[in-house]
Amino acid sequence: MMMMRSSYSCSLLLMLALMSSVSMAAQGPRLFMVGDDFGWRVPLPNDTAVYSHWASTNRFHIGDSLSFVYDKDSVMEVDKFGFYHCNASDPITAFDNGNSTLDLDRPGLFYFISGSHPHCTSGQRLIVEVMHVHHHHHNQDIASMSPISSTPSASASPLPPIVASAAFLAIAALVSFLTIAHD
Ligand SMILES: *[C@@H]1O[C@H](CO)[C@@H](O)[C@H](O)[C@H]1NC(C)=O
Ligand SMILES: *[C@@H]1O[C@H](CO)[C@@H](O)[C@H](O)[C@H]1NC(C)=O
Ligand SMILES: *[C@@H]1O[C@H](CO)[C@@H](O)[C@H](O)[C@H]1NC(C)=O
Repeated sequence: MMMMRSSYSCSLLLMLALMSSVSMAAQGPRLFMVGDDFGWRVPLPNDTAVYSHWASTNRFHIGDSLSFVYDKDSVMEVDKFGFYHCNASDPITAFDNGNSTLDLDRPGLFYFISGSHPHCTSGQRLIVEVMHVHHHHHNQDIASMSPISSTPSASASPLPPIVASAAFLAIAALVSFLTIAHD
């Protein structure tokens, strides 16, 4: 009796965990406020890694966007070289309107700097990595698994097997739940 109860609650917990991870994956495009309440400005001396920390606590998907909010400053999307050298001479895009929204419209790395050289070297710069799989549309996940696809980027996606094994585990949990319920 004790054993049945504990495996029953295990199955239930597993199902709940899977259901919540599936619903998180199904979220639509999101708008991220860069730096949260801190916004986009020169990091404090005791928190120079504020933007790498901020990026590491979020997951970015194709279709999401970033909102940079700042005062008497700017934001530029640059290439890797521009990022590491705080070189603002040849930006991909540049804004100084105080609230700039940039779309994460492709997978891979995005580099952002303040157009002010001293601000950038003080840590006002951000790298964001956008996931290769768009979780929002399940059909796209399946399409990107298809070997027919000829684009090399489509085969680089690591996520669909995880989705498949999650589905398998959910079914396994359901089966053991039903078995126990019938006992
Ligand atoms: C950094 O210093 C400011 C005051 O200058 C303080 O409000 C903040 O909590 C400190 N942050 C950290 C991460 O220690
Ligand atoms: C920035 O990069 C450009 C090439 O894009 C180069 O001509 C210039 O000297 C660089 N400036 C600095 C300060 O590194
Ligand atoms: C900045 O723009 C975003 C998107 O348009 C909006 O949601 C946000 O409220 C704005 N923030 C400020 C401080 O203006």
